[in-house]
Amino acid sequence: MITLKINGKEHEVDVDPTMPLLWVIRDIIGYTGTKFGCGKGLCGACMVLMDGNAVNSCQMPVSAMEGKEIITIEGKTENLQALQKSWAEFNVPQCGFCQSGQLITATSMLNNNPNPSEAEINGNMSRNICRCGTYTRIKGAIKHCVEQKNKS
Ligand code: FES
Ligand code: FES
Repeated sequence: MITLKINGKEHEVDVDPTMPLLWVIRDIIGYTGTKFGCGKGLCGACMVLMDGNAVNSCQMPVSAMEGKEIITIEGKTENLQALQKSWAEFNVPQCGFCQSGQLITATSMLNNNPNPSEAEINGNMSRNICRCGTYTRIKGAIKHCVEQKNKS
């Protein structure tokens, strides 16, 4: 048995310890907001937060996740919720497939750096691919979120 803490709740799972976290999150526990894209650590669709930092869950064996605080797109954290609000205001998603990964990477960035520069936004968000080309709206929504947080 492996014990995972996901979105503040403990889950005991009886799986092969080498199984990627993404499989467990989606197929065993049922949080399907995290997406499978490439399965090779290249696209960012499967990003989740591990102790506040974005990781590709398709590349993480579930056995390495014990004792970690995992947050998926279904989770609630201040930065994730603030970004989701901004995403809605900017109508960011097109097909939506990449967007949970995009939001998780943006959340990780703000967790580590509340005032990212343009270059830092570009650098951080380069971990995520969007087939629909929503990059401009993503950057706009991140900048707006940072501005709103600085005002409050
Ligand atoms: S599915 Fe994990 S990086 Fe593409
Ligand atoms: S919104 Fe379609 S892949 Fe990004």
